[in-house]
Amino acid sequence: MAADALLEVRDLRKSYAIAAGVIHRAKGDPSTAPGGTVGVDGVSFSLAPGETLGIVGESGCGKTTLARILLRLIEPDSGEMRFRGQDWRGARGADLRALRRRIQMVFQDPIASLNARMRVGTIVGEPLAIHEPGLSRAERTARTAQMLEAVGLGAEALDRYPHEFSGGQRQRIGIARALILRPELVVADEPVSALDVSIGAQILELLDRLRREFSLTLILISHSLPVVAQLATRVSVMQAGKFVESGTADQVLQAPQHPYTQALIAAVPEIPA
Ligand SMILES: Nc1ncnc2c1ncn2[C@@H]1O[C@H](COP(=O)(O)OP(=O)(O)OP(=O)(O)O)[C@@H](O)[C@H]1O
Ligand SMILES: [Mg+2]
Repeated sequence: MAADALLEVRDLRKSYAIAAGVIHRAKGDPSTAPGGTVGVDGVSFSLAPGETLGIVGESGCGKTTLARILLRLIEPDSGEMRFRGQDWRGARGADLRALRRRIQMVFQDPIASLNARMRVGTIVGEPLAIHEPGLSRAERTARTAQMLEAVGLGAEALDRYPHEFSGGQRQRIGIARALILRPELVVADEPVSALDVSIGAQILELLDRLRREFSLTLILISHSLPVVAQLATRVSVMQAGKFVESGTADQVLQAPQHPYTQALIAAVPEIPA
């Protein structure tokens, strides 16, 4: 495996048994892998520090399953994951806790992913309370306020509740929470699909600015090619649990090789420009 890779994954697989009632419907559905199972079907890639990998594919192709495996929120059936050369898939105990904080996720739905009963300061500061219990309350509040500033919300957000914010602002809160531990890798799963296009574009710009500011590596997952094209340095196209095409953003967008990629691009005539 490449010594300089931030994240390297090899042959990740995760299948779900299809319930009896849906087998019939799933037959002939291209998003369904052979063998009556679905999920992630042999994904490998290597991510260098500072890259933005865009993963694009239609609903049900396995993007969220892959994201959850990468975060170790679900266990793959097989495959390897290494983070800066360390065994991430097999990490346990203190190693697992130390690695966990270095990889964070931004979720699709900024309403569902934030606890409505908690103040924004508590939501954003919670990972600090868990991972850095030695911090004083004042230090934690200061770092939380700083992060709220970094995502374009003032420190005045600290004492307010999620429902007092718009969808775009809530996604900024979610991003602040993801970044408060200063992770190295952020996986954003459909971070703008719940937002209006113009608000979504601002969130993507914010993610890119924060990537530079905090030296992040980004995995940006979307069903939308224009969204992925806005930030990605590399693009992987996912279909039925597999990466069917991977390359630099220019290669994939300007000279797509796989018929599925060509179809995705044809469906968005204004892209690539
Ligand atoms: N917990 C689960 N149990 C059974 N099947 C599941 C489970 N999670 C996902 N699947 C199935 O795995 C496949 C991939 O789902 P996944 O959510 O990863 O797709 P996705 O690409 O994220 O789709 P979307 O664009 O709609 O978010 C789908 O067919 C889905 O129904
Ligand atoms: Mg999904």
